[in-house]
Amino acid sequence: MVTLMKAVLFVMVSFVSARDVPDFLKVCKRQDPDLPNCVSESIDHLRPLLVDGVAEYGIPALEPLLLHEIVVSQAGGLKIAGNNIKVHGCSNFAVTHLSIELSTIDVEVTIELPNLWIEGTYSVEGKLLLLPVVGSGPLQINLTLCKGEVKMRGNVFKDDNGVEHLSCAEMDLKISVGSGVVRLDHLLGKDDAFGVLVNSAINKHFDTFLKEIKPLLEEALSEAFKDIANKIVEPFNYAQLLLND
Ligand SMILES: *[C@@H]1O[C@H](CO)[C@@H](O)[C@H](O)[C@H]1NC(C)=O
Repeated sequence: MVTLMKAVLFVMVSFVSARDVPDFLKVCKRQDPDLPNCVSESIDHLRPLLVDGVAEYGIPALEPLLLHEIVVSQAGGLKIAGNNIKVHGCSNFAVTHLSIELSTIDVEVTIELPNLWIEGTYSVEGKLLLLPVVGSGPLQINLTLCKGEVKMRGNVFKDDNGVEHLSCAEMDLKISVGSGVVRLDHLLGKDDAFGVLVNSAINKHFDTFLKEIKPLLEEALSEAFKDIANKIVEPFNYAQLLLND
């Protein structure tokens, strides 16, 4: 019984006392005249870890990013549904601009995503040149030279001991895509000339296609980034993350 009590006490004490800041977190000083640059370097330092996540801190892997079903209702007379969608390349971003308003903890970040490679399975139906199109198979979408505008709002809250912690209250990411290509493989069970035709018809309407999948991608990425940000900052005291001297 005593041993159990000791164990419970030990767990409680280690739970309430803040953890030491790990090496992967480069902390910044509030008074740093170039705070945006410090935070930007801190993100860059962290970025390689996002690929697989950090199990010890509950930080999930960003690669691959899983999307729910995508449905594109009109791409040149064809309706395309995508399933088991995996997005690769989200961790391969570069921060090109960052600004911070400390009083409200508003952070705006501009990132570049050179290549997003999306794979999954599709089913398609519709008509092309008056011919019926029905098929399914592996799907690929490549998006190149994407830019992301990320707006984050932080929140300071007190834990049960009155110690301040930081959390991410809002994360909003908007993407613009440089160029892209869709490929539906094994249409009609084989790669024939008609399959090539269907692919070129869809790619002719790539803008329509993109307009429908972009919000889903933005939502999934915003959610993933918010979750990751919270897992990273919440265990530590606000004063540990943004030093006061
Ligand atoms: C998409 O990108 C991947 C990885 O860069 C490449 O292997 C694949 O061939 C590309 N697919 C298309 C349809 O361009």
